[in-house]
Amino acid sequence: MDFKLDRRHALDLDRADPLASYRERFHIPQHEGRDEIYLCGNSLGLQPRSTEQHVREELEDWQRFGVKGHFAGRRPWMPYHELFTEPTAHLVGAKPVEVVNMNSLTVNLHLMMASFYRPAGKRHKLLIERGAFPSDRYAVESQVRLHGLDPDQSLIELGSKSGDPFIPVEEIEALLEAQGQEIALVLLPGVQYYSGQAFDLKRISAAGHKAGCRVGFDLAHAVGNLPLKLHDSGADFAVWCNYKYMNAGPGAVAGCFVHERHAHAFDLPRLAGWWGHDKTSRFRMGPEFVPMEGAEGWQLSNPPVLGLAPLLASLDIFDEAGMDRLREKSLKLTGYLEFLLKQKLAEHIDVLTTPDPTQRGCQLSLRLHKGRDAARRVFEELEAAGVTGDWREPDVIRVAPVPLYNSYTDVFRFVEILEGLVVA
Ligand SMILES: Cc1ncc(COP(=O)(O)O)c(C=O)c1O
Repeated sequence: MDFKLDRRHALDLDRADPLASYRERFHIPQHEGRDEIYLCGNSLGLQPRSTEQHVREELEDWQRFGVKGHFAGRRPWMPYHELFTEPTAHLVGAKPVEVVNMNSLTVNLHLMMASFYRPAGKRHKLLIERGAFPSDRYAVESQVRLHGLDPDQSLIELGSKSGDPFIPVEEIEALLEAQGQEIALVLLPGVQYYSGQAFDLKRISAAGHKAGCRVGFDLAHAVGNLPLKLHDSGADFAVWCNYKYMNAGPGAVAGCFVHERHAHAFDLPRLAGWWGHDKTSRFRMGPEFVPMEGAEGWQLSNPPVLGLAPLLASLDIFDEAGMDRLREKSLKLTGYLEFLLKQKLAEHIDVLTTPDPTQRGCQLSLRLHKGRDAARRVFEELEAAGVTGDWREPDVIRVAPVPLYNSYTDVFRFVEILEGLVVA
């Protein structure tokens, strides 16, 4: 892409941006009377203006109907979670039977591991990436222990041979070919939270399955960031949160994918609750658990309607904007950020995230040459200047220009402010 260094160019790019008007659909936090430069959608996405009405309508229906709201009102609560099925399936490239929104990410990860991490005999290991998100690390270690196994023997944490945060897919394939017969579950990210690397779900699933492993993904940083084809990837399961790129609010209800091939695998061990019970006989209140087909069969509780309502507002926006168009802008927006950083700040800052745009989403992870303390200071000065990114220990500033609400001018101003702080 042919970028230029001057501010006018950012304005020209904004003027030519077919998605520019989506910014107006979001509440942009303010700093000293103007819009913050909010580059933190990888942590908590901004609130769509339509969210409030969605939540208010459910509060009103509760006021008007009480318990009858389960069957009355604009969106009866009994089948409420079903409103999300089609748009979620569309978003992640899945069949409706393969997706459900429920619980939170780590809970869903445990539910999936209860079914898909079944160590037996020689095949007892669980493979994750080195430096996995702490909650995932805690979850997998606790699952290993739950089976009476020792994480030192049963947990593989794969790093790259070069020591780089980037893990080439060939190295994952080589490990699975060499050690796959000992691995019960491969659990990798869609986009790694620290490095920003995007993984090839299809190749990893194929390599894992060839070795006889089950394969799952944590898509916290991938959903709403990259176009996904979960069904075609062949993965056994995937889990994600909806508060980052999906803009469904702090602690939002999370997502879960279970491949169609397991839709009727009723003999798979699972942790059960009444909302996973076949809905045609759920209210007969019998003692025997009869699972729903598909991902819904892993639900435990009735849906938290007030928690889910913001996701509906968000899914409407994604459906309208389209993931392919968002990705097209995202490639350009992050490419522009990378261009400015390289041109203006290469002597001061390394971009940890791969330069290959096909192997990353919108996030770039930055590391200052001057080291951790200087980087931490710069991060705090950025905040004071109205730039919101986020800090990840030990020494990384993550910034994620999000195509739905970030502009090229945001990116230009960010680099201008950063330059002022770093070069000074
Ligand atoms: C990659 C990844 N996994 C897991 C989590 C934990 O999510 P939750 O608190 O929703 O369970 C996060 C949260 O940011 C994350 O980024």
